[in-house]
Amino acid sequence: MESIVEINSKEYELARYPQTFDKSLRAWSNAELLVLDYIAEKDYKGIHLFNDRFGVWNCALSNKNVNTVWTYASQQKAIEQNLKLNKLSIKVNYKTPFDSLKELDLVIIKIPKSLELFELFLQQIHKSAKEDVEVVCGFMTKYFSASFLKIVEKYFENIEQSKAWKKARLLILKKPKKDIEYKELVNEIFWKENVLKQYYGVFSSKSIDIGTQFFLENLKVQSNELKVIDVASGNGVIAYEVVQQNPASEVTLVDDFNLAIESSRLNLKDRKAAFVCSDNLNDLENEAFDLVVSNPPFHFEHENNIEVALSLFRDVYSCLRDNGRFLLVANSHLNYKTHLSKIFKGVSILKQNKKFEIIECIKKR
Ligand SMILES: C[S@@+](CC[C@H](N)C(=O)[O-])C[C@H]1O[C@@H](n2cnc3c(N)ncnc32)[C@H](O)[C@@H]1O
Repeated sequence: MESIVEINSKEYELARYPQTFDKSLRAWSNAELLVLDYIAEKDYKGIHLFNDRFGVWNCALSNKNVNTVWTYASQQKAIEQNLKLNKLSIKVNYKTPFDSLKELDLVIIKIPKSLELFELFLQQIHKSAKEDVEVVCGFMTKYFSASFLKIVEKYFENIEQSKAWKKARLLILKKPKKDIEYKELVNEIFWKENVLKQYYGVFSSKSIDIGTQFFLENLKVQSNELKVIDVASGNGVIAYEVVQQNPASEVTLVDDFNLAIESSRLNLKDRKAAFVCSDNLNDLENEAFDLVVSNPPFHFEHENNIEVALSLFRDVYSCLRDNGRFLLVANSHLNYKTHLSKIFKGVSILKQNKKFEIIECIKKR
């Protein structure tokens, strides 16, 4: 895997977190390099970074006054790992997408796959933008969509596109529009008689995902399953159903994405629920849980990858008590039964339709 990159005549070593066996993946893209090249000669007081996924910007700009708006717990780990790898001992100034930011004069964004999340970033930026702000958005041309322009035009008067360089391009936004009415960037999703809320960018924004629906329709929580984890919980709908069926249960929701966790807080606020923004289950008690439920992730941004799910499955095994159950839904083509059988002794397919399967794993020593 390529791990050394030269930026402004300096070499950096950058590794991915989570690690991957896919040698074609790098911890940076040409879009991020193009942004760095564009801002190299600029004079600015502070700079805000959005979607610095693995920390290339934090490393290359470590001697500047940088603020990082983070969205993933694993992103923070990647940034810290790469700063350390390059012996850059700086304390990262993290902000969340909910924070109000200091007056912004230069902002750089790697446009995320979720255009709703892009809009959420732009609204946050617009709220604190100075009149002469410059917002530089990098993207790989193969992911360009006309919706990029529709979204940026809502917030900025001047929009320029750069020339392409190594299949990357920039959108440069200037002159924040006046009199914008900010809206709460939350979607409402109907499930049975309930309305669930989720911030822009959280998985399956218009309706409950069809795999999740299949899972919920077939989920039967047993009365002795009181300590429950929802892994990769998104808006929290699976945990919500667990509590509906078994109001005595205590659910722990874990998701890597801070906006997912904040959405699930909205949906389970009056329940016995704990919320953990993390990309693994290391901080949860071992051998303590009766049931784990999940619709696990199998892609990240534009990449498909089951390595993250497989690592979560090993964590699930550690957290379950003896005879505890792990119930998950997945696309049948992922062939998770084979992978799970290497971790759990009792693995069976409880239900199947054309696209999905619901797998039950029982922890037996
Ligand atoms: C397929 S979605 C399921 C969401 C929700 N459970 C549902 O059914 O609507 C997968 C979720 O996994 C989260 N995720 C990705 N990587 C993760 C990781 N390493 N640990 C925990 N959650 C992760 C994503 O943010 C996303 O919310």
